[in-house]
Amino acid sequence: MHVGLTTSWFASLLVLTCPGYCKGPDVAPNGLRVFAEVMKTQVGIIGAGPAGLVLAQLLAQQGVESVVLEDRSRTYVEARIRAGILEQSTVDVLTEAGVGDRVHREGLRHDGIHLQWPGHREHLDFSALCGRSVWAYGQTEVVKDLINARLAAGHPLHFEVSDVALHDVETNRPRITYTDRDGVAQTLECLVIAGCDGSHGPSRDLIPSTIRHTWERTYPFAWLGILADVPPSTDELIYAWHPDGFALHSMRSPTVSRLYLQVRPDEDITSWSDDRIWSQLAHRLDLDGWQLHTGPILEKSVLPMRSFVNTPMRHGNLFLAGDAAHIVPPTGAKGLNLAVSDVALLARALTDLVVKKDGARADAYSENALRRVWRATHFSWWMTSMLHTTGDDFDAQLQLSQLRYVATSRAAAASLAENYTGMPISDDGAGWSGSDPDHT
Ligand code: APR
Ligand code: PHB
Repeated sequence: MHVGLTTSWFASLLVLTCPGYCKGPDVAPNGLRVFAEVMKTQVGIIGAGPAGLVLAQLLAQQGVESVVLEDRSRTYVEARIRAGILEQSTVDVLTEAGVGDRVHREGLRHDGIHLQWPGHREHLDFSALCGRSVWAYGQTEVVKDLINARLAAGHPLHFEVSDVALHDVETNRPRITYTDRDGVAQTLECLVIAGCDGSHGPSRDLIPSTIRHTWERTYPFAWLGILADVPPSTDELIYAWHPDGFALHSMRSPTVSRLYLQVRPDEDITSWSDDRIWSQLAHRLDLDGWQLHTGPILEKSVLPMRSFVNTPMRHGNLFLAGDAAHIVPPTGAKGLNLAVSDVALLARALTDLVVKKDGARADAYSENALRRVWRATHFSWWMTSMLHTTGDDFDAQLQLSQLRYVATSRAAAASLAENYTGMPISDDGAGWSGSDPDHT
């Protein structure tokens, strides 16, 4: 159960005062100027993306207090168009966390995907191949559900903070300093800090270079993504190889479609009129007897594609999760799902650490999370390599051979299905071993 702010030691508010040399302009009723408000919490969470918000929700359920600090506004965070395919385990975590109602009501369950190359569209039936499914439900909706739940419960979530800095992460009393939206300097003392601050946040840099290792691959292409106010022209996603470049038909709801085109990394979006986008999509997704419905384009952007892994995911009392520790290219839709599986592991680890003073899961967190991270990193790289044209005809022939193999070999199709629907989340990183193939 959550312990209220007024009764908990951890959330007690200490107002420190100073005689006059401090920066903060506030003046307390006793006439002393306030230079900082030192708050205490059990887990300080930086970032209100899916990783930070799901972590906060899971911890609150276990009675662990946290404070979430986000540098953007609520409107910005809720409107940011990102991924849209949830693995079964992700839906399970959201359900367990008490925020699964809307995804079950409005999410579109998909039991497979279509793989396409010129003249062929082959359906992979995930239910038959591995007994698992995925859900089409936008990251924007996941984030809205989580923010609503947190604010409704009255738990602290601060938007539009700035100057976030981490201190003393190697000690038992790590701190976060920041400036709140009213311009007041704040200090948050924590037992642990969760760096859920995405690919550009400050947390990762706290790991000393002597310990830190990073791996990176930048791909020689990007995606031009559109959100369109038009019902999807397909029941399930179409991943299309085409000599002129990859195309993907995805969706957000029965009335909103999401589509992507492979483009150059330095593509100038202004050279892509709506007509040009729709005609390239129709060309690359073309199949006899099938028609692409077009409609108003609500948003368009170019997304770079890279793979990136940072290790370790823990340093002292700093734990990294989600894009702060790893990036995958979007092919295969793993980014959001990895963020959620990281924090499912992390929530258990931090609950044991903070409530039971048992550090075993926290000690194993980085290694366990990284097993899933590398599996998803390989899968995303593999899907990307199979589907994007490079301009090299040898590559093209290998890709077509691979696509035919996946479409005709049950073993190859099952491998794709198993990876696409996601590795089950287990504390020991056991992967698929022991998972129930009949589970739906
Ligand atoms: N201070 C406070 N908040 C910060 C700071 C900072 N200095 N830097 C970044 N943030 C916030 C960002 O504004 C963002 O809201 O951290 C949040 C990180 O959220 P995401 O980028 O969504 O990352 P994560 O929660 O790990 O989710 C990963 O999101 O980008 C997609 O493809 C990605 O689907 C994946 C998922
Ligand atoms: C999306 O809907 O945004 C999406 C779907 C599948 C992917 C990538 C992105 O592989």
